[in-house]
This record gives sequence, C-alpha cells and structure tokens, in this order.
Amino acid sequence: MPAVVIVGAQWGDEGKGKIVDLYTERAEMVVRYAGGPNAGHTLVVGDEKIVVRLVPSGILRPEARCVMAQGMVVDPSVLAGEIDAIEARGHVTKGRLFVSDRAHVIVPYHPLIDGLREGAAAAGQKIGTTKRGIGPCYEDKAARRGVRVADLFDKARLTELVTRALRAWSPVILDLGGDVPDAHATVEAMSPFAERIKPYVAETSALVDEALERGERVLFEGAQGTMLDVDHGTYPFVTSSSAVSGGACTGAGIGPTRIGRVIGLTKAYATRVGEGPFPTELHDALGERIRVAGGEFGSVTGRPRRTGWLDLPVLRYAARVNGLSGLAVTKLDVLTDLAEIQVCVAYDTPHGRTRDFPEAELAASKPVLMSFPSWGPELAKARTFDALPEAAKRYLGFIAEQVKVAVDVVSVGPRRDETIVLREAF
Ligand code: IMP
Repeated sequence: MPAVVIVGAQWGDEGKGKIVDLYTERAEMVVRYAGGPNAGHTLVVGDEKIVVRLVPSGILRPEARCVMAQGMVVDPSVLAGEIDAIEARGHVTKGRLFVSDRAHVIVPYHPLIDGLREGAAAAGQKIGTTKRGIGPCYEDKAARRGVRVADLFDKARLTELVTRALRAWSPVILDLGGDVPDAHATVEAMSPFAERIKPYVAETSALVDEALERGERVLFEGAQGTMLDVDHGTYPFVTSSSAVSGGACTGAGIGPTRIGRVIGLTKAYATRVGEGPFPTELHDALGERIRVAGGEFGSVTGRPRRTGWLDLPVLRYAARVNGLSGLAVTKLDVLTDLAEIQVCVAYDTPHGRTRDFPEAELAASKPVLMSFPSWGPELAKARTFDALPEAAKRYLGFIAEQVKVAVDVVSVGPRRDETIVLREAF
C-alpha cells in the first residue's frame, strides 16, 4: 500500500486539521515529518476542543498509531502538556504515540533567542516567526551542536551539549540584550518533561518501514506550507524545515518509492501569517470580511492572518515541487455571497506576462486577476460535486484545469460532514 502525503500548497493554515482527520479515518499510521510547535491543529472531541502543536492529528482515532519523526523539532514541555491533555480526556497514548530518538530538542534558550531576535529586528527584516524556537533549534541541528531526544536521558551528556550550545549562543544573546541562561539550571528545568516523554521514544524510521511492509495505510501529515519551505518557499520569509512532500522522505527516513500520492491543500482564497511576499493580498474591507468569515487568526499566536485572492501561479509551483496528484480545496463557504471572486492567473513582469510565480522579481511584478461570480449559502448543503452551485463547479473546474491537478476533496464548511470526496486517498 503506497503512502499518502498531505501538504499545504500555499503559506500554511489551509485547513490541514480537517482534511488529515478525514483521511485518518482510513489510516493506520499518521506521521508528522517536519516542523514543531509552530504548527497548530484544533481537534474536536465531542463538545471539547484540544489544540495540538506537536502530536499528529490522528491521536484521537483509537486505531491509528502516531509518529513524530526525526525531521521534527520537539519541545518536551509542550509535548508533555499535550500528552497530559489528551490522557485527561480519556484517550490512551501509550503504545500509540512514538517520538523519534533522533528528533532535535527545542531547549529553553531556543525560544528565548527567537523572541529576542524578532524583537530586535528592524522593520523589513522581521520574519514574523511564531517565537517557538524553531529557527534556532534547526540552526543548532545544522551546526552539529544540537540536542536530540535520546540525549535527554543522559544527564552528563545533556549538560555537555547544552554547555557547548550556550557557549556558541552567548555572544548572540548578550548582543540582543538578553541574559545567558545557566546550563545546569536549563538541564534541571527540562528534567520532569524528559521523564514524561521517555516512554514514547522509539526508532521511528523502523516503525514506519515495518508498517509499510505490512501493507498498512500510512499518512504523512505535512506542517506549514510549500511557500514556507526552507528550500522552496519565499526565502528568507520561511520556516526552517522541509515542508514540501520530499520532506516526508528525509524527515521520516523512508525512500521516495514508498509514496504513492501527494495531496496538496489549498483554500479557495489565500492567507499568510507573518511577514514576506503576498502579491494577491487584500488590504481593504473585503480582506477583513474574508478574515472574519474564515476565522483567519493564527492558531498558535492568535495573530490576524493576511488575506487575499487565490494565486494560481503559486499552486502551479506547489504542484511542481511537491508532485501533487490531487488537490483538496477548503473553505469555499467563506467566499459565499461575495459580489465577485478574483483569482490571480498570471503575473506581468518587466519581461512580459508569465504563468509562473516570479519570485526573483516580485517587487516589479503585478498579479493579473480574473473575476468569477460567487455562490449562495446553498453551497454548504452540497454533499456531492453535482449538487454544488454552478458557479462553484466552474470555479473548481477552472482551478483544476489551470493547475493541471484534479480536485480530490472539496470542503464547504467546518464540520466533518461538510466535505465532498471525489477520490479517496487510500
Ligand atoms: P517559525 O516557523 O516560527 O520560525 O516562523 C517562520 C514563518 O513561518 C513565519 O512567517 C510564521 O508565521 C510562519 N509559520 C510557521 N508555522 C506556521 C503554520 O503552522 N502556519 C502558518 N504559518 C506558519
């Protein structure tokens, strides 16, 4: 059974929680392969809501095993809190949740540095990070002085690694006006969280491989989105990990031949949280209307998300760098009753019109917009493609034709049943 990867095709927040949950109904294993507590999914359990940042969304499906693979960065205090919250609601996590022994650890100085840097950055140089320590943790990983999950359980080694990292970071912290933390105090502060997560630590690459060998349905849950990928996004306004589908291979330790399908998620419009290019952004009352109707506020930071029109050159780019086999189009209901919907179909650059996203010369380029009629509230009642309003069918048909990728799923409302599945993933 080939694995399925779900990735954000825009700047993240495409409604991954709901679509991953939908596919998880049929998955035996859900694997997160990149990022850390910068992501956020709201899981709905009866009338209760749990927000998870690290644990894969499949955790509330008793039959699914959940893996946090080595491409992730793990904050033990956040993870311990999530495990407590999930168990407090009567869900079993032991034997179902596995954390890679090789994933890198977010040590308290990482969010400290992230916050100090963002605070000190001049206008135009801020990234608008989530301040969760993601960047500094991946920096330590690449600099080969990081702390890995397995190191948490050997105090002498952990103290040595923390001391070494702090030696490298001290001038940075002091320069930013911060206080350099004490290595021993840092290790002591992490100790209770390390003990809490210890029973979940495993060699996850082997676990994923075994599941694939047994023919189980394995779902790779992407975090953030294509345009936030460290290699393929709008650098430097990106996160520090591989959010694209290829990240599932490096982040989970499986080969590309294991992957059968890649589903790209996109909203029917676009949003971005944090700084960086967003050419179709709406700065007016319409942008505000979409923000309110779509509940577009960051799930980790609560920041209002920037809103704008769908950008087809971005989706074409996402189709290319992820090898998309299908699209899941979410939040169509948010555009209900608008006077008109616009879509960016191309860009006018100094060298003429292009259908590609002109990243290198964005400042000198202008989006070319095309108008579409909107639909009425009857959209939310549709449970088949045929039952959708004609205007919505035309809009979806246009996206699929322009991106050259079929629409597999359409979401017409926040509830689980407000979904139209045109093609199953497994
Ligand atoms: P970092 O990942 O906290 O370093 O933030 C880097 C950039 O990625 C910022 O623009 C964040 O707003 C953005 N970002 C990180 N995680 C998410 C996410 O889950 N959804 C949307 N944007 C994100």
